[in-house]
Amino acid sequence: MLLEVEGLDVRYGRNHAVKSMSLTVGEGEIVTVLGANGAGKSSLLKAIQGTVRAAAGKVRFAGKSIDGWSAPKRVNKGLVLVPEGRQIFVSLTVHENLQMGAYTRRDPYDREIDEIYQRFPNLGERRDMPASVLSGGEQQMLAIGRALVAKPTLMMLDEPSLGLSPILVVELFNLIEQLNANGLSILLVEQNTRMALQSAHRGYVLELGTTVMNGTPAELMEQEHKLEAAYFGVT
Ligand SMILES: Nc1ncnc2c1ncn2[C@@H]1O[C@H](COP(=O)(O)OP(=O)(O)OP(=O)(O)O)[C@@H](O)[C@H]1O
Ligand SMILES: [Mg+2]
Repeated sequence: MLLEVEGLDVRYGRNHAVKSMSLTVGEGEIVTVLGANGAGKSSLLKAIQGTVRAAAGKVRFAGKSIDGWSAPKRVNKGLVLVPEGRQIFVSLTVHENLQMGAYTRRDPYDREIDEIYQRFPNLGERRDMPASVLSGGEQQMLAIGRALVAKPTLMMLDEPSLGLSPILVVELFNLIEQLNANGLSILLVEQNTRMALQSAHRGYVLELGTTVMNGTPAELMEQEHKLEAAYFGVT
């Protein structure tokens, strides 16, 4: 397994946001984590990335225990998060945003940035413009591009389809599948259950910080009403 999370707990004071969560991502897999608002999805990804401290649990990446590693070290080793809400730097140019993606790299990265411009010509045409001029879809491409510059082996994406038009959502999922076909493993948090289950190999459903279901998309769809209950927070 590329990523192994075991018994992970995240607490914010008395708020127990993630409760003994276990999860794996195999090499070459797309794994999705589904759940309603507040289920603990972002907390889970942040704890894996190392920007939020886990109160308990173990995380192994590429066969190594990474619990003592800082977030930059995790990025440097190929574990990269595309955060919720893109978090791009709107006052910096497109190019500067992509350079930020390389902040943990010590080797040259111009080639990766050129590849991003080839993949996303809209970004290339706007490379010297402030990122604030980008559309929502272009900002999401920039956030993904910035993560790619870090040369990930596992990319975690936190609700990348949020706020995108239906056409752009389809394009986004095509991109995710394409990156995966090129060897990138993916951990995808989504509210767009239907699209996520179309692309993913496996999924987990989180409810109040706990896994209530996991399995293949077919297995999860079979229990559609339970899935809906977790998603809408009703029973
Ligand atoms: N920095 C924080 N301080 C205190 N509580 C927090 C903090 N971040 C998250 N929480 C709480 O932890 C719980 C899980 O939040 P989290 O953001 O992980 O959920 P989520 O599944 O990503 O939700 P959403 O779908 O709305 O993004 C929520 O109850 C939230 O209020
Ligand atoms: Mg979230």
